[in-house]
Amino acid sequence: MDRILLKNVDVPNIHDIDVYMAHGGYISLDKAFAMDPKDVLEEVKRSGLRGRGGAWFPAGMKWQFCVEVPKFPKYLIANADEGEPGTFKDRPFLETDPHQLIEGMIVSAYAIGASGGYIYLRGEYPDGYRTLNTAIKQAYDRNLLGKNIKGTDFSFDLTVHRGAGAYICGEASALIESLEGKRGQFRVRPPYMATHGAFAMPTVVNNVETLVNVSHIINHGADWWGSIGTKESPGPKVFGISGHLNRPGLYEEAMGVTLRELIYERGGGIRGGKKLKGVIPGGVSTSMLTPDFLDMKMDVKSLQDAGSAIGSGALMVMDEDTCIVHIVWRAMAFFQHESCGRCTPCREGTDWMLQILARMENGGGRMEDLDILADVCHTIHHNCFCPLGEGAVMPVLSSLKYFRHEYEEHIKAGKCPKGLRARVRH
Ligand SMILES: Cc1cc2nc3c(=O)[nH]c(=O)nc-3n(C[C@H](O)[C@H](O)[C@H](O)COP(=O)(O)O)c2cc1C
Repeated sequence: MDRILLKNVDVPNIHDIDVYMAHGGYISLDKAFAMDPKDVLEEVKRSGLRGRGGAWFPAGMKWQFCVEVPKFPKYLIANADEGEPGTFKDRPFLETDPHQLIEGMIVSAYAIGASGGYIYLRGEYPDGYRTLNTAIKQAYDRNLLGKNIKGTDFSFDLTVHRGAGAYICGEASALIESLEGKRGQFRVRPPYMATHGAFAMPTVVNNVETLVNVSHIINHGADWWGSIGTKESPGPKVFGISGHLNRPGLYEEAMGVTLRELIYERGGGIRGGKKLKGVIPGGVSTSMLTPDFLDMKMDVKSLQDAGSAIGSGALMVMDEDTCIVHIVWRAMAFFQHESCGRCTPCREGTDWMLQILARMENGGGRMEDLDILADVCHTIHHNCFCPLGEGAVMPVLSSLKYFRHEYEEHIKAGKCPKGLRARVRH
């Protein structure tokens, strides 16, 4: 597939508005402004665009809910928190080709009727902060942002808001709490964001990649865009592939590319000619899979059928020398640290699991620990307000399903067979 979203990432100075415009940038604004906002919304609905942030909710439907609420101002927020370990697919639109995101946001805001916009940016992307702010200033100077954009009745202001490094602030409602200057914690719904989002006003939160797709839909039409990928998961997708590969990196593919193509063609196969042990297909909160799934298509339904999820499209590849217990311990150290502390099962459960996994990796594991781990997972699952805890149990449950023998080997040997150790907090 020819690149669409990453087409210009290698163009020198594409972050500069003149270079961006010389490559066809901001054309979708003219097309969109010649249409009624309702028709822009219809076009996005018809394309079948689904959110690229992890939940894959239909973008047009989310916008429709917001449009129907007769309260103003409305807000559009680009979720650029990108906190899921393994995920780096939004980064090119924040650090290299920022006008593509700004253009997508302007068209989306026009369709929604939003007059205020925020890019909630991962605190650990300082280059993105500088690049985005320069790009926003350039867009204001050209009247592509601000009052009466390009002489129309439509006005839209855009601001970058930096996060402070909390994974939970990528969750849309915690993001809004943080944006409002409060502690980043999940908001119980209802009320929903369509009615009570940022500053209690109707709000749409979309992932960066979701918004980037919008100007391409308007430029080339929903039929063209929807013809890429699979019927239920259309469009192009940026996959971030990492781990034990010869060529890790970002690859833009049509949805439905197989796992085998991503690993062995795009990624150049496993480093050192080693065998594949397993993959984490969509970021660390998605269930691990084995090489038996190599011919699976990377789309929403196929991943669901496989008992996992496509998540953010962050594929992590593990070779035959990987210690699965070590990987799961490492993942749990992240979740335990990032649990916001609001729900007891998540706050306490991730800590208990961290301790058990560390003990097991360091040679003190017992067979009953395997049942305790599964039990803690079931206590967290469905008993927390937000999905962070549910994400935390996925590496544990899936590794117990596919790699239980590795846990048993640790317990029987009284040590990690690969000679690794887990760092223990005191
Ligand atoms: C713990 C947690 C972290 C999340 N982090 C991100 C993130 O970094 N970026 C993102 O776009 N969505 C993230 N999400 C998903 C958002 O809540 C939300 O579904 C998404 O931003 C909606 O955009 P979309 O419909 O365009 O995918 C996260 C969800 C959870 C539960």
